Amino acid sequence: MFPRLPGFFRSGVLAFCGAALAAALFLPATASAQDNYDESKVGNYELPDPLTFLNGKKVTTAEQWTRERRPEILRLFEDQVFGEVPASAPLARVVSVEEAKGVLGGLGDRKQVGIQFVRNGLAGPVMQLLLYVPAKRSGPVPVFLGLNFLGNQAVDKDPGIKLGIVWSRDTLTRTGGPSRDRARIVSKIAAEASRGERVGRWQVEKILQAGFGLATIYYGDIEPDSVLGFPYGIRAMALNPGQAKPAADDWGAIAGWAYALSKAMDYLETDADVDAKRVAVMGHSRLGKTSLWAGAMDERFAIVISNDSGEGGAAIARRNFGERTEGLNRNFPHWYCANFKQYSNQEARLPVDSHMLIALAAPRPVYVASAVEDRHADPRGEFLGAVAAGPVYQLLGKQGLGTDAMPGVHQPIMHDVGYHVRAGVHDVTAYDWDQYIAFAKLHYGMK
Ligand code: GCU
Repeated sequence: MFPRLPGFFRSGVLAFCGAALAAALFLPATASAQDNYDESKVGNYELPDPLTFLNGKKVTTAEQWTRERRPEILRLFEDQVFGEVPASAPLARVVSVEEAKGVLGGLGDRKQVGIQFVRNGLAGPVMQLLLYVPAKRSGPVPVFLGLNFLGNQAVDKDPGIKLGIVWSRDTLTRTGGPSRDRARIVSKIAAEASRGERVGRWQVEKILQAGFGLATIYYGDIEPDSVLGFPYGIRAMALNPGQAKPAADDWGAIAGWAYALSKAMDYLETDADVDAKRVAVMGHSRLGKTSLWAGAMDERFAIVISNDSGEGGAAIARRNFGERTEGLNRNFPHWYCANFKQYSNQEARLPVDSHMLIALAAPRPVYVASAVEDRHADPRGEFLGAVAAGPVYQLLGKQGLGTDAMPGVHQPIMHDVGYHVRAGVHDVTAYDWDQYIAFAKLHYGMK
């Protein structure tokens, strides 16, 4: 039994909707007194060497990396940062498939696949995977897979996208006093008016026209993004009898979202329209942290893309620039595992840093993107994370960025490690997608 799971996961979405249309997701303000925006305060720091074992021995061969050092680093991230997926994690099964041909003015074919998490025969949340593939295709197509923030209906104006349940924030909880105490977490059916609200971020037509498919899932289907979200998500399903919360090295919400991306990949491998050997996992911001971790955990992802993922993602934590671990832990205590709390204001004590997370993608192509005005995410730190992953790529006979001089705005570098910084703010834009498409085409040998 899952005593902590609300009834709607057991008795169906509609019953739930009647009961709980009232309130909100608690998302705290993200600025922190510890944040630093002064480059002169970055100071000197020493990065852990991805090519030196914990016992001090050097990694000198590709085989040593693959068989020993990579697992060692992966384990450090599991134990100290994202948390491990417990053996009791729910499995997933397909429970519904909707199909429509010739949508988006004839440009694409659409599927909506309901994937339900189950454990010991008990049913949990259903995530809706929205998949578009080009209507004109001569075989299975490469796909970009990414989680979205606002619900699948926000990705495109396509009136056929199912309106799912979304968790929303209640402005009342953010005024006059300690909002955390008064926060409630409730949800509602996504509003009609929110259709296409994020078209700029998803660029479905551009992606389809380039010969790719797009698969996306609302991340709240997996676990609502809130300190209060735990009981409603898949991590709660993994608790064993008598266990109130995950162990200190058990998964945080990011690892839960990443796990769901693997379950989505399980489905994509069964879909004849998808070239499952060419699925790129992509995410923005907290979901870019998630795509990096998903790509590390699951080597079936052919390309890993981090868009503005910042602290706890692609940005070097030891630079102490922009957001810091303290801010992550205080504002988003549910994202990382409990062990990560000990690194608040203690970045130098981390046994890893972002370059090692990026290097876990190796030898597969990995792309890191920044935006100039996104100082909170530390664009330079994201670049330096990608730079310092380079030696691992080189050891594996691949090409890192090949420079430690940060490129100018809109001057992408595309080797096996890719990077760009674009003009503008924290977002995903058509420019970003142009680069991801070009990077994927380069590595897939597409014209
Ligand atoms: C906050 C948070 C970041 C995160 C971002 C996002 O700004 O501090 O770490 O990346 O939200 O997900 O949009």
